[in-house]
Amino acid sequence: MMLISAITLGIYGFIDSLTVTELSKFSTSGNFPQSTVRVDTTPSDRYLIYASGIPDHPWEKVNPNDATNQNYNISIPKIPGYNNGAHGCVPMGMIGITRTGVAIFNPLNVDLENAVEGQTRETFDSCDGHPTNAGSYHYHKIPDSCLYKGEADEFIGVALDGFPIYGPNASDVNGLLTSTDLDECHGREVNGAYRYHATETWPYFLGCFKGVVLENLPGLQYICEPANKASSGWEDWKEWNGYLCNCPPPEGQGDGKMPDPFQCRADNPYRPTNCPDVQECMNNNNPPMFCYDICRQQGSRPEFCKTLPANDNQACSIAAIKIFTILLTTFIAICLI
Ligand SMILES: *[C@@H]1O[C@H](CO)[C@@H](O)[C@H](O)[C@H]1NC(C)=O
Ligand SMILES: *[C@@H]1O[C@H](CO)[C@@H](O)[C@H](O)[C@H]1NC(C)=O
Repeated sequence: MMLISAITLGIYGFIDSLTVTELSKFSTSGNFPQSTVRVDTTPSDRYLIYASGIPDHPWEKVNPNDATNQNYNISIPKIPGYNNGAHGCVPMGMIGITRTGVAIFNPLNVDLENAVEGQTRETFDSCDGHPTNAGSYHYHKIPDSCLYKGEADEFIGVALDGFPIYGPNASDVNGLLTSTDLDECHGREVNGAYRYHATETWPYFLGCFKGVVLENLPGLQYICEPANKASSGWEDWKEWNGYLCNCPPPEGQGDGKMPDPFQCRADNPYRPTNCPDVQECMNNNNPPMFCYDICRQQGSRPEFCKTLPANDNQACSIAAIKIFTILLTTFIAICLI
């Protein structure tokens, strides 16, 4: 029995998004009592990260705003998965959370310009962060003064799609990783597991979501257009017609290429031509992110998900992996006995 549990734990440890070690790193320095973070691992499909969002280091007033308690309750998939090759736009607002419970934002300011470098850069305090006007303290770039120590394989936090975020110092490469070492979403596979790497270069944390995000944040339903890394200046964000640049602003269509899912209802006589094909979405057992809204609007769900709780498409793939894992574990256990 012990053996079976050990094997089960081992296999789950391998496929779960965050390892036991990573989960154990969610904590604060303790120097600032208002700064809190806690991970609830009991739900079957997700980790719930509860945090105040107040940093565990000093913060200075660099804009009119103060860092206030955000009462975060963030759902992170326990088993993240690639999104059928599609990539989700990183929305404005939170795209991930540090191991100290502080929000990670995309690299853009409210005008969708580079918030970190160049003429449009914003002011950060000496810990590389600042609060929004709603009091949400956040980082747009590596907080290398007060959180990141620069050690090899250092865990910084987790993206909302469940994949971990590491720093640029990686033990399997010489020197620091830069964006050119990473894929379009700003990550890579290490020992078969995907992780993002924060770097000192654009887009600093994430370029897009490699996986699926559980919560329906504004802008998340958009699939990004691939960028040609070789022909566009990867380091120069203005020339880089990349994932972020093709993402529409949070509200409405803007410059984005994908229409609003609401306009893609089958009964809309003015349905834009670039809407995904409804039937294609419906027939797909593991539909790309954009399809989720379409399927919901049809009042129906992919065949595979029919028996699972409503409105939780992530549960489909999790259920599949779990069933597979249990079968595999049983098989191994029987072989060993
Ligand atoms: C946090 O959110 C989850 C839904 O994902 C919910 O089940 C849970 O009750 C929430 N916790 C609190 C304390 O509100
Ligand atoms: C990476 O981290 C190791 C210690 O973990 C350190 O010795 C090394 O100097 C770091 N590399 C860089 C380029 O900072």
